Amino acid sequence: MKIQGAVALITGAAEGFGKAFSEELLKRSARGIGIVDFNAAKGKATETELNKKYGEDKVRFFQCDVSSKDQLEDAFSKTLEHYKGIDIVCNNAGIGDELNWEKTVDVDLVAVMRGTFLAKQYMDKNKGGRGGIVINIASMAGLYPMPLAPAYSAAKHGVLGFSRALAIADKVFNPENVRLNCLCPSFSETAILQQMKGLINHNPVAEAIYGAELQTVPVSMVAEGFIQLVEDDSKHGEVMRCTPQNGIDYKKFRDISKL
Ligand SMILES: NC(=O)c1ccc[n+]([C@@H]2O[C@H](COP(=O)([O-])OP(=O)(O)OC[C@H]3O[C@@H](n4cnc5c(N)ncnc54)[C@H](O)[C@@H]3O)[C@@H](O)[C@H]2O)c1
Repeated sequence: MKIQGAVALITGAAEGFGKAFSEELLKRSARGIGIVDFNAAKGKATETELNKKYGEDKVRFFQCDVSSKDQLEDAFSKTLEHYKGIDIVCNNAGIGDELNWEKTVDVDLVAVMRGTFLAKQYMDKNKGGRGGIVINIASMAGLYPMPLAPAYSAAKHGVLGFSRALAIADKVFNPENVRLNCLCPSFSETAILQQMKGLINHNPVAEAIYGAELQTVPVSMVAEGFIQLVEDDSKHGEVMRCTPQNGIDYKKFRDISKL
């Protein structure tokens, strides 16, 4: 997809990956971005910073807890109303709170599913949309178990299963319409990792799995992968990985018709 002139809605974009994705889209002359986040202070600050850098009204912040059905629906309709269309949706907001695991599943999986259905509703060419792309942010914890964060790992596995199943169905029943891909980063230095370090640091299980020093990928690598998925129209139903070992690559799965 050509990014120039496109409109995006990105959840959890007040900081971290979502903010970096927004900035990469703006560098390529995206028309506007709805930044959807529950952190009003950081969301407003990011709106001000990016508008100053890339031009007035390039970014609009919408405060929203993605785990609220009404608030998420409202954020989609406000972005559409403001920028007159939506072409790119990134379901990125996430938390890693194992003590409040129901909330983790609500934010990291249920809201991603709801955001995907809303994106398809708004972008589907058969429903008045222009087609587009959805990118769901999973994690390497969605491909392999993360023993220190089982709820987070379950939610991220769910994101992959849901997105791949829907993409395969779309290839058959609704092709050339809305592309759907997943992005699975390794650990990266953002706020969520700071929270998770409470589980990881000085934990012998973590040390046994990840070694004495946690390997991370730069946020810029994850943002580069995101742009690749947006721009490459051949990518549909793919699972991109960003890892310190192999950089950006795609996970190969067995063809389900051969299972
Ligand atoms: N950083 C990593 O190590 C890492 C690795 C793999 C996957 N991820 C995933 O990447 C995504 C982005 O995380 P990040 O690393 O940028 O972390 P981050 O903490 O910097 O950003 C997460 C953003 O989501 C927002 N958010 C959280 N709960 C929300 C809610 N209920 N409603 C609306 N917004 C909410 C936060 O306010 C924040 O702005 C998450 O889904 C995370 O699970 C992160």
